[in-house]
Amino acid sequence: MAVHNTYNDTINRELTRSLQSAIPNARAEACRLPDVPEIALYLLNCDYSSAELTPEQTRRIMDYPAYWSFCWASGQVLARYLLDHPGWVNGRHVLDFGCGSGVVAIAAALAGAAQVTACDLDPDALNATAHNAALNKVQLTLCSDFAHVTAPIDLIVVADVLYDAANLGWLSRFLQKAPEVLIADSRVKDFSAPNYAWIDRRRSRTWPDLDEFDEFREVNLYRGRATSVPATAT
Ligand SMILES: C[S@@+](CC[C@H](N)C(=O)[O-])C[C@H]1O[C@@H](n2cnc3c(N)ncnc32)[C@H](O)[C@@H]1O
Repeated sequence: MAVHNTYNDTINRELTRSLQSAIPNARAEACRLPDVPEIALYLLNCDYSSAELTPEQTRRIMDYPAYWSFCWASGQVLARYLLDHPGWVNGRHVLDFGCGSGVVAIAAALAGAAQVTACDLDPDALNATAHNAALNKVQLTLCSDFAHVTAPIDLIVVADVLYDAANLGWLSRFLQKAPEVLIADSRVKDFSAPNYAWIDRRRSRTWPDLDEFDEFREVNLYRGRATSVPATAT
């Protein structure tokens, strides 16, 4: 469902300019998420058609994916999960690694986190996250480099970042920075990492809908715990 007002229209125009440098003819527009209607995000227009892209334009999109212009299936699942289980974040400092649009960070703030840091190496993602935080009337701290986070973190949340096998190396680093980690992932089917355990499975889809294979609509949740951590109230 699209969300319209004068302020949104100004932001839509700014984000549309950023989006069109990667995806020709695309528009950014604020819309509510199907599985998390409490949250609205500036995303790629739902009626975008890629049918007329030239091969060169397609190549540019693949080289520089505007991840922030979609809410990924795992982002929807993890945002829904935190809103339904606020005990995970209540009163805690939560860091959303690979925040993209900021959907999970925003859910953590709405669910009662004391502080939320949204981290992404893509400056356009951080810009979109800032606008999305304002749209949802929550405060986030933005961070472009996980290594620069010095404040104590209670929980790291991670949604659809393991698509790149190189990112699996982050799993052990997360547990050096925080006592608990909550991962949502739709890509890795044989997930196995020390100190991480499967906790749940949900279905969702990337929004706007990318018509992905059904297997990518299945999202697994994993909890990581540094040794000697007391159980979280859920
Ligand atoms: C598929 S998107 C998921 C976005 C969001 N979590 C969601 O579920 O909608 C992955 C995001 O991870 C970010 N990312 C990948 N590697 C990263 C890294 N090393 N540090 C921070 N962000 C990273 C990308 O820039 C991108 O925004």
